[in-house]
Amino acid sequence: MFSYLNNHLDLGSTVKDLQLHSIRVEIDTSGISLAKVFEENPLLPGIILTKSGKFIGMISQQQFLKTLSRQYGREIFLNRSVKVLYDFIKSELLIFSGDTPIVDAADKAVKRPQEFIYEPVIVENSPEDYQVLETQKLLIAQSYIHQLAKDLLQKQTQAQLIQTEKLVMLGQMVAGLAHELRNPINCVAGNSKFMSGYYQDFLKLINTYEKNIPEPIKEVEDLKEDIDFEFVKHDYLEMMNSIEISADRMMQLVSSLRNFSHMEGTKRKETNINECLDGTLLILKNRWKVSGVEIIKNYGDLPLILCHSGQISQVFMNLITNALDALEEYQEKETDSRPGKIWIHTKAKDLSENTDQNVDKSAHDIELNSNYQMKGNVTSTEDSKEIYGWLSIRIVDNGPGIAYKIQKQIFDRFFTTKAIGKGTGLGLAISYQIVVDNHQGKLHINSTPGVGTEFEILLPIK
Ligand SMILES: Nc1ncnc2c1ncn2[C@@H]1O[C@H](COP(=O)(O)OP(=O)(O)OP(=O)(O)O)[C@@H](O)[C@H]1O
Ligand SMILES: [Mg+2]
Repeated sequence: MFSYLNNHLDLGSTVKDLQLHSIRVEIDTSGISLAKVFEENPLLPGIILTKSGKFIGMISQQQFLKTLSRQYGREIFLNRSVKVLYDFIKSELLIFSGDTPIVDAADKAVKRPQEFIYEPVIVENSPEDYQVLETQKLLIAQSYIHQLAKDLLQKQTQAQLIQTEKLVMLGQMVAGLAHELRNPINCVAGNSKFMSGYYQDFLKLINTYEKNIPEPIKEVEDLKEDIDFEFVKHDYLEMMNSIEISADRMMQLVSSLRNFSHMEGTKRKETNINECLDGTLLILKNRWKVSGVEIIKNYGDLPLILCHSGQISQVFMNLITNALDALEEYQEKETDSRPGKIWIHTKAKDLSENTDQNVDKSAHDIELNSNYQMKGNVTSTEDSKEIYGWLSIRIVDNGPGIAYKIQKQIFDRFFTTKAIGKGTGLGLAISYQIVVDNHQGKLHINSTPGVGTEFEILLPIK
């Protein structure tokens, strides 16, 4: 019903977009003139009262009729000035400026005392331009806007679900691809080692021939010159060497990818968190090398912990990607921004340490802190298992920081400040779930706008 009346409204509509009434009556005129106006306009919610053209107040049709219907009401009020009637009624006025959002105005209107809830409200469009707005119309418009918001949210959620599904599929494809790549890469890595060995054997064979043939043979010497034998002899080994190194790197990459895509089943495994971080950094290497961001690792000596390493790598991936995104965006916007840096600190710790650390620091402090930790953080693996209850992994960046007013929302599903196609707003929500729900850990954030952001993951050691 209201969509017909209100379909010109949108989420940002204000009270001046609604039907307003501007009939005015001077307060010195008699009550009869007021009665006449109401009689001629039975649907008019109220009349603006003025004194010498200036706004004084408003009388609603409802209050007017109620007052006249009292005993002797007509006799008392109709023959006197409107002022007498107004002084008698004098209900509180609710005045909004024209650009008040409909939703806000409706909220205030219904918070009035019970007996005034349906009194019309007043809209001040410009100074000295007051108009009357029927509360019922305001409420109907509000519920129309509410419906619009609900529809929009539904559409957004649907789009985001599709996006999530696509990501899940992409994850599966990556896992499958990593799996398929393993065999050929294994073949290259394994065989190149043998080929180097065979090559050394061939060289030995040639050397033995040369030693045992007293006179050089011309044809052989010519061929050696033709093929640049001395150069090839050395270069071949170097080439084999670089093929071996590259194949090893590919193996590492593929195993990091498999790790990341949960290929190893659902059981918790004894994991070295520092290695997990290195695996993640390897996957991200191209990204941070291109961006020019410096990554400063400050790993402590950590005990192994039981965890789902694939999931934990995913958390590292989300947090480091967020830091890289933030730093890149910052550098694009601010021409004189400082060089982007990400510090990764790991250590075993006791939660009592939390109080004196990590509180609101400047980028300089972050830097000092990382230096301090580099020197100071030496604990043996066994000791840390005994003394400390938690592993702390801190990912710190000197990016733009997060505005205080959105810090509460960043863990919400689908909350993102990034452009469409760039962020889905799932990274932190998933990370929170993995750390807190799946691993009984904690995820802390400490961010100062203009200084930087720190996320701390705490995982229980036992
Ligand atoms: N290190 C950071 N510095 C500044 N802002 C950050 C940082 N980390 C997170 N944020 C803010 O938190 C929001 C939510 O992060 P989240 O990882 O959940 O989603 P996203 O990065 O926007 O999208 P997705 O991770 O799903 O691709 C980001 O859009 C960004 O505004
Ligand atoms: Mg993210």
